Amino acid sequence: MRSRGNLRVIRKTPGEIETMREAGRILARVLQEIVAAAQPGVATEELDKIARARLREAGAEPSFLGYRGYPAAICVEMEDIVVHGIPGKTKLEAGTILGMDMGAVYQGFQADMAVSIPLGAVDAERRRLLEVTERALQAGMQQARAGRRLRELSAAVQQVAEAAGFSVVRDLVGHGIGRQMHEPPQVPNFVTEGAFAEYDLLLRPGMTLAIEPMINAGEPAVRVDGDGWTVRTVDGKPSAHFEHTVAVGREGSQILTLP
Ligand code: MF3
Ligand code: CO
Repeated sequence: MRSRGNLRVIRKTPGEIETMREAGRILARVLQEIVAAAQPGVATEELDKIARARLREAGAEPSFLGYRGYPAAICVEMEDIVVHGIPGKTKLEAGTILGMDMGAVYQGFQADMAVSIPLGAVDAERRRLLEVTERALQAGMQQARAGRRLRELSAAVQQVAEAAGFSVVRDLVGHGIGRQMHEPPQVPNFVTEGAFAEYDLLLRPGMTLAIEPMINAGEPAVRVDGDGWTVRTVDGKPSAHFEHTVAVGREGSQILTLP
């Protein structure tokens, strides 16, 4: 991250956006099934099995599998895991929160989506973290419209999170998406003057973005486990993550990852 230049944002035709919407529809439906299966006591590898099978049945491919060597179709984000948790034998625990992040490619186009949910009964602070993070995503999506600068989107996400007393993860950002999972621009969930050339980007119809706030209950600092993937909060407090793939429109953004 923190790269400058390379702001050649690829705008999509209406037909390409329809293909991305189909990728997003398949993805959102499979994610719904995974959410329904995500109960305390279930091993996270079971969720990955559902993802692989259902995406392929629907004619899509799991885009995460093999991406830079990532070994699964989904990322499981239990409690203090911010992103990129690898599914395995670990069982889901009541009282914690779980994020699930997944990508699909269909007819050459990508969609990327994440949701976070409570497992069993969770305390009020975790419920509030989930509610605020989802609201931060909605605030960002509202700014994903023609004529806005990207910084307005970033600021809107940050405002919701910080007004609630939570912190925005700084080391990871959202992204443009299309034929590639990651395309320019980077989509930060915060504004730090000078950090991203993207802040000045004028949003235009046909741009397609994956907006994905990662919000921590405690401090923003994160670290990567020895497996080279799992990103956790340094303070061990919970983190939540929601993501939609959207198309910038004249009136507002259109969510492409809807069932
Ligand atoms: N939504 C994440 C991203 O945009 C997921 C990619 S994880 C990986 O980077 F497994 F594919 F690496
Ligand atoms: Co993403």
